[in-house]
Amino acid sequence: MRTPLMAGNWKMYKTVSETRAFFEAFSPLVAKSTHCEIAICPPAVNLAAAVDAVRGTRIAIGAQNLFWEKLGAYTGEISGAMLKAAGCTWVIIGHSERRQYFGETDETVLKRTRAALEAGLQPIVCVGERIEQREAGQTETVLREQFANGIAPLTPDAFERIVIAYEPVWAIGTGKVATPEMAADAHRLLRQQARSTFGTEAALRLRILYGGSVKPDNIRGLMAQTEIDGALVGGASLDPVGFASIVNF
Ligand code: PGA
Repeated sequence: MRTPLMAGNWKMYKTVSETRAFFEAFSPLVAKSTHCEIAICPPAVNLAAAVDAVRGTRIAIGAQNLFWEKLGAYTGEISGAMLKAAGCTWVIIGHSERRQYFGETDETVLKRTRAALEAGLQPIVCVGERIEQREAGQTETVLREQFANGIAPLTPDAFERIVIAYEPVWAIGTGKVATPEMAADAHRLLRQQARSTFGTEAALRLRILYGGSVKPDNIRGLMAQTEIDGALVGGASLDPVGFASIVNF
């Protein structure tokens, strides 16, 4: 009943011409993939080319971040309305790399999420524990806190429109994928948080993606877990054939 979402996060990879070449190869490979939604999140300078390339396909385009103000003197920033006007429908918020290198906190995640929704974008809100937190047995506490501070303050209407991505930081770009069972445990905990804050129905409708070293050879095992509603894929989304085989798991 929850339609899977397969989202590619290109991070700081690919130029405009590489973006066009990707979609030329990728689009035909997923033309019949009606079992899921597909989104690609390229760097901001490639959004126009990406939106142009996916016209007439089922592929949606998203941004990797946005600023919460609508406009103003904020050098280097991009607003939700600008992303929407560029043809984006999705936006990734609170990715661990933004938390780690750019000072993102649960509070700024909440502000960005509200701004994204106000602009008519669908947020993919990222949560996840670092390795030292997992090793110290703090995974639950960390996820509870990230949910409580970054997500729970949303209105019920706003909550209905977000997707959560569980991305254990130690699994991102490291080749260390969480086992399907580990991921499913974390997803259950998040869904439980959703249930106690927003009710059973809303929790059942919530899509929770797994992210962290998802590859063509481990996607099936992950998607076999009923708790896992799709994937947020970094490195493996850069290759059109590889990402198509993830989409078509
Ligand atoms: P990865 O990245 O698939 O390269 O581990 C996932 C992410 O950061 O979203």
